[in-house]
Amino acid sequence: MRKMAYVSIIGASGYTGQEVLDRVLAHRELELHAVGSDSLAGRDAVALDPRLNRNGGRRVPQFITNEAALASGADVVLLCQPHEDAATLEPPAKGVVIDLSGAHRLTDATLYERWYGFVHPRPDELSDWSYGLPELAPPTGRLIANPGCYATAALLALGPLKHAIDPDGLVVDAKSGMTGAGRSLKAITHAGSVLENVSPYKVGSHQHVPEIAQVLGFPVSLTPHVLPVRRGLIATCYVRSTGPDLRMLLTEFYAESHVVSVLPEGLAPDLSRVQYTDTAEIGVFDDSFTDRTIVICALDNLGKGAAGQAIQNVNLLFGFPETEGLRLPGVLV
Ligand SMILES: NC(=O)c1ccc[n+]([C@@H]2O[C@H](COP(=O)([O-])OP(=O)(O)OC[C@H]3O[C@@H](n4cnc5c(N)ncnc54)[C@H](OP(=O)(O)O)[C@@H]3O)[C@@H](O)[C@H]2O)c1
Repeated sequence: MRKMAYVSIIGASGYTGQEVLDRVLAHRELELHAVGSDSLAGRDAVALDPRLNRNGGRRVPQFITNEAALASGADVVLLCQPHEDAATLEPPAKGVVIDLSGAHRLTDATLYERWYGFVHPRPDELSDWSYGLPELAPPTGRLIANPGCYATAALLALGPLKHAIDPDGLVVDAKSGMTGAGRSLKAITHAGSVLENVSPYKVGSHQHVPEIAQVLGFPVSLTPHVLPVRRGLIATCYVRSTGPDLRMLLTEFYAESHVVSVLPEGLAPDLSRVQYTDTAEIGVFDDSFTDRTIVICALDNLGKGAAGQAIQNVNLLFGFPETEGLRLPGVLV
């Protein structure tokens, strides 16, 4: 008999909520148990998207409140809420919880005020959570902090190199599509500021900076930008090798991966190849003029940067095939 895990989604009406919902529906070992949304509670799934619950498709239950979905006794809870809301929640006593927000990523609670703008309401419980970045830090335990989108791209590029590069003066220039900022309207994602524009934001103060430093063991300087596209993220990292061949290190590190690929010499990552997928591409270039190596990682902020990674973590924790339910091939464009 096939083993199934029952899933509850909290904050299902947001961008990451919709993305995990879509992957759960495509997953052979996961079954939807409860779908939470305070704004849609009591309504049918078609209120979110008319393509749901069509004849022949898997059924999505009626929306219930986030509180009810959290308490529904699922085997897996996928938390897709703003950071501060996720930080206040008491996790259910049983089952796996994957938090897609940043509320449980930092081990030092005192960093939340500076980088997230709130005092962490449950600081003593942060040590109950583990950081789950499958390629570098596979999930352990039952409470998992899913990495941030910029952090995932920077860490996939730099993590395997951390003992082979000079940690001083490391620069990451990163750009993301506007869905990275969530569904609710903000000045930064208003069409009037996004279209035909590229804007740096949170320069020197983005919340993924301490997350990246926590994994690497040294700080990086990260400048994020909003791109006038809906999805996709690209991180360009400027590093200096302390001797080893960085391309060889990355190629060997990801040789067995079905999710992360290192492109052949001369080929650069491209947003259009990773958009709508759960994969990441890495390109490596020598800049002999300045004695630097430029490592570029592209991924979809909602895919490998959020929902795809969350499902990959669930697969690893439950012993399902690692890529079950993930979008791997994308569409040739
Ligand atoms: N967008 C990305 O690319 C991305 C990538 C990685 C991680 N993340 C993280 O994932 C989390 C969700 O992001 P998102 O992009 O999906 O955000 P979003 O589109 O703004 O959706 C957030 C969801 O949270 C609920 N919500 C909003 N305000 C709330 C409040 N005050 N109290 C309780 N629930 C509230 C809403 O559901 P209701 O219907 O219940 O109101 C909404 O569906 C965030 O922490 C974000 O940082 C996002």
